Amino acid sequence: MRRAIFPGSFDPLTNGHLDIIKRSSPLFDEIVIAVLNNADKNPMFSVEERCEMIREVLPLVETGTCRLMVDSFSGLTADFARQMKATAIVRGIRAVSDYEYELRMALMNRRLEPTIETVFLMAGEEYSYVSSTLMKQVFQLGGRVEGLIPELVEDRMRRKTENGV
Ligand code: PNS
Repeated sequence: MRRAIFPGSFDPLTNGHLDIIKRSSPLFDEIVIAVLNNADKNPMFSVEERCEMIREVLPLVETGTCRLMVDSFSGLTADFARQMKATAIVRGIRAVSDYEYELRMALMNRRLEPTIETVFLMAGEEYSYVSSTLMKQVFQLGGRVEGLIPELVEDRMRRKTENGV
């Protein structure tokens, strides 16, 4: 049984994340989308809201026989991966600029848990500039983000900015 975790903040989920989930699905039997409960950041969505949105969107992703699950975690990614009995940590690389940070994280995670490998997947070039941070910024300033985030996430962002829910 090949299980991987795909850790991240997912505040919010973008089509770039979905692209990585889709690309990694033929490599694993199970992928756990692992939402970091990060107290340091000032998120737009709570961890519960992020998990809920991901759960709603995942059925729309074509992943063949690979099973997708969603969970949240606090603390170290390496510890969570070990708890989940995962053999791999999936991360997406959009551009060369991601590489240095990702390399440092992968090496640190390998030091913390030598039996778990980080698997890098190249995001589709159409998502090479898509990040959750940029999506929130453009959306909040009235710019168009359709095609870059799931529609359901865009609706939730609209509700959040208009009514605060
Ligand atoms: O989507 P992001 O914000 O780029 O994800 C970053 C994430 C969650 C993968 C990273 O911040 C992380 O692993 N945080 C958990 C704490 C940890 O394990 N830190 C050491 C990593 S070397």
